[in-house]
Amino acid sequence: MAEQRGHWSGQIGFILAAAGSAVGLGNLWKFPYITYENHGGGFVLVYLLAVLLVGLPIMTAEILLGRRSQLSPVGAFRKLAAGHRGARWWPAVGFLGVSAGFIILSYYSIVAGWTLRYIQLAVTGKLGALASDPAAMQEFFGHRYLADGWQQVGGHFLFMLLTVGSVFFGVKEGIERVARVLMPLLFLILLALAGYAATTSGFGEAMGFLFRPDFSHLTGRAVLEALGQAFFSLSLGMGAMLTYGSYMNRTSSIPKAALEVSIMDTAVGLLAAVIMFSIIFTFRMPVSASAGILFTTLPTVFYQLPGGGLITAAFYLLVAFAALTSTISLMEVVSSYAIDELGWARRKATVVMGLAIFAFGCLSAVSLGANKALSNLNVFGKESAVGLFSTLDFLSANWLLPVGGLLIALFTGWILPRRDTQDELEAGHGRLGRIYTGWRVLIRFVAPLAVGAIIASIIFLGMEYQ
Ligand code: TRP
Repeated sequence: MAEQRGHWSGQIGFILAAAGSAVGLGNLWKFPYITYENHGGGFVLVYLLAVLLVGLPIMTAEILLGRRSQLSPVGAFRKLAAGHRGARWWPAVGFLGVSAGFIILSYYSIVAGWTLRYIQLAVTGKLGALASDPAAMQEFFGHRYLADGWQQVGGHFLFMLLTVGSVFFGVKEGIERVARVLMPLLFLILLALAGYAATTSGFGEAMGFLFRPDFSHLTGRAVLEALGQAFFSLSLGMGAMLTYGSYMNRTSSIPKAALEVSIMDTAVGLLAAVIMFSIIFTFRMPVSASAGILFTTLPTVFYQLPGGGLITAAFYLLVAFAALTSTISLMEVVSSYAIDELGWARRKATVVMGLAIFAFGCLSAVSLGANKALSNLNVFGKESAVGLFSTLDFLSANWLLPVGGLLIALFTGWILPRRDTQDELEAGHGRLGRIYTGWRVLIRFVAPLAVGAIIASIIFLGMEYQ
């Protein structure tokens, strides 16, 4: 028996859930450290261009496909492609997305598990002792904590439990209720931290580092990473926004929602970077390992402030919240596939798929511990891009998502009839006029050419990679 399809309670419900999906470890952990690795300004500018010219139009397209079809990715492509060119093959794009969701969730949940451990350490006071000595902090994170396979599996398990628990209860009662409380809270804590950062002496230097474009360091790899990061951060290229769009009412405006979610996501990433670099430059923290900024550099600084224990606990709680609303969206893509395509009940789908993702993620968790190269702490840096964990992150963010996004753009721009896309985008919004024309140019030409050119140049020109 098919369950009735749930819907958001209104425009704000969709926005909160979609922003919850977008804002996550990608903004708070990944964006600052890859910005650091890619030398700031120039990279940030390319990233912003990627969001504007590629991310925003593809986000609009994904929501459109979901709401039009009222189905999750595989079914959506099957239904919308019916009677058009390549009708038999398009559902494979949906399947690619579901697989990407499975893979991303399996390692994302491990990093999310680190935040739980840090909350516990902060609350019990243990983190204070470690953080008073930067060397001890690094030794703990890189050599003891990451190298302990059981702890990695344990954190991963706990976070998957939280995720499955939230998705279990469905769209309105589960996902939306969680996002409604957590998203505003997240913004508040972040704004408070940004207020503090603005008073530090490193603030000016941080702003210069982030916003003064310097293209002398910009490599082909950096451009691909900026694009991959835009997809990852906006939750694009695998049908997450498509799935959330399928729960959207036809009285809500898609273009407005896509714009608001993109702005919020970008703002959070930039805020996080401003906060972290202000602190790093103020306290002259050695950034020996960029991927460790969130877990080694920041705690040592927080504990130098009055009320450090409290700030630290609140901060990791915020990161955990942000990660949870993101893992929920990854989980939802995988379970809605089982619900819509395999005909499973929602509860069975979330539990069975959750267990499968947990089991697959254990391989990464254990590989983290077993991987001696990690002892230099450069978990995701160029030097130690080894191990299942970093390989999966690299592969999914820089290949699966952009390729998925390219195919989504081609399908929406070239396969779907113009009147269908226009009708769907104007439903709940009113006449779009030039905005529609502009979007159509972006989705037919600009986005596919940009993504295609970057992928092709990496393949054919063999730009230094890995
Ligand atoms: N956007 C999230 C982040 O930045 C991660 C994420 C959630 C995601 N759902 C996704 C990434 C779907 C790609 C596709 O942390």
